[in-house]
Amino acid sequence: MNTPDGDGPPADVAVIGLGVMGANLARNLARHGHRVAVHDRLPAKGTALLAQHGHEGHLLLTGTLRELSARLTRPRRVLLLVPAGAATDAAIDALTDVLEPGDVLVDCGNAHADDTERRAAVLRSRGLHLVGAGVSGGEEGALRGPSIMAGGTEHAWDAVRPLLESVAARAGTAVCCARVGPGGTGHFAKTVHNGIEYAVMQALAETCDLVLRRTDRGHTGLADLLTRWNKGRLGSYLVALTAAAAARVDPVTGTPFLDVVDDAAHQLGTGRWAAQAALDLGVPAAPLTQAVFARSLSRDREGRAAVRGALGPLRVTRARSGAEPAETDLHDGLLAATAVAYAQGLDTVRAADAARGRVTDLVRLTGLWRAGCVIRGRLLDQIADTLAARPDTPHLLAAEPLAHIVRTGTEALRRVVLDAVATGVPVPALASVLSHLDQLRTPRLATAMVQAQRDAMGAHGYRRVDRVGTYHTRWNGDGAEIRLDA
Ligand code: 6PG
Repeated sequence: MNTPDGDGPPADVAVIGLGVMGANLARNLARHGHRVAVHDRLPAKGTALLAQHGHEGHLLLTGTLRELSARLTRPRRVLLLVPAGAATDAAIDALTDVLEPGDVLVDCGNAHADDTERRAAVLRSRGLHLVGAGVSGGEEGALRGPSIMAGGTEHAWDAVRPLLESVAARAGTAVCCARVGPGGTGHFAKTVHNGIEYAVMQALAETCDLVLRRTDRGHTGLADLLTRWNKGRLGSYLVALTAAAAARVDPVTGTPFLDVVDDAAHQLGTGRWAAQAALDLGVPAAPLTQAVFARSLSRDREGRAAVRGALGPLRVTRARSGAEPAETDLHDGLLAATAVAYAQGLDTVRAADAARGRVTDLVRLTGLWRAGCVIRGRLLDQIADTLAARPDTPHLLAAEPLAHIVRTGTEALRRVVLDAVATGVPVPALASVLSHLDQLRTPRLATAMVQAQRDAMGAHGYRRVDRVGTYHTRWNGDGAEIRLDA
């Protein structure tokens, strides 16, 4: 590598955007012995980072992008941690003026894969490389080891790989950092990761709601239950943090924290993108879409109040002792819902591959999720085993050991959903998982009627189960059936 031409010691890498994620990733890099040039649009953030953590390693504060560029060894490696969307475009625009052909930019934000493709093309025309890296694990992950799903050319990846691998999470000896494929594939993988995150969070939240409203365990009992589950097959980062949220007592009121949290749930966009991708690709992703809808509905305060006023509020009564949802049913139902969420996420990746003529190594992708990221959990081992044993399975849920989880979980889920539906506890994600599984197992679906309706409404034609060909019935004429493709 060439040496820089700025004053002062050279830096191996730059981090731009010193919010919590950027600051922690910069510290993580510095703690691993890298010399890190840091910059933020707001100089105070850089000053604060240096004041609080400057002793942790080589953090070099730069006031302007030109100064930052001058400080870097070549090819320059610049990690961008700014909010997705317009801020990312603005930062890339500003950087193109100070970078030189051959330099590599890594967008570590939650970008839309299409934006990454577009940006990569623009940068390519200037001789610059873009790696779109999905970085998961939140602020803690950024500091102690995130999971990194990267996309871009092999050449660009090779330039940043040692840096990113050195700070990424490790599952045993395996590094949770890899190139998933070209262009926007890394950011697409992160979008799917977040879709799974949304679905599992919603299924967990619904299970907690049922426990709190239909049993007399209370918040402490719920936290104990989740803590126990976390030691078994449901063991995961999300179950652990849900247990902590259930256990927390609000210091202001002394009541359970969950009772004082506003139920209007926000979303930054990635879950919605995952749902949109599933819709566009024709992948049924029920709990994911329901999770997105549930957040949207929760924010419609006015609409909720109006309907509650018109129809009356739902009051859920606690089940009498012995009639509450059984612990094993809640556990097995949640496990099945989690398995379905993972399977639907991976189906979305497979469908995107088929549409774009590429092949993502799903075993490797699930390997990246084994540590550091938000959806890490024991079930992933079984999913990886399923993928490795049956890579060509027409449906992940049909292959063991996933099939076994879903087989046992379905009837448990049915009992859980029955209790919820009968008593008025909303469980959109859990119910959608059950319905999804029921649809998959039903030999003849209601959609036969949909085909008949389509033909009657728009002469769209239908296939028959007993003969080849496409047919149409003259519904508005003599009622005779004619063959359309003869
Ligand atoms: C991660 C998370 C993270 C996500 C936030 C909030 O993998 O670290 O997915 O990237 O942005 O957790 O996302 P929402 O605001 O959309 O819930």
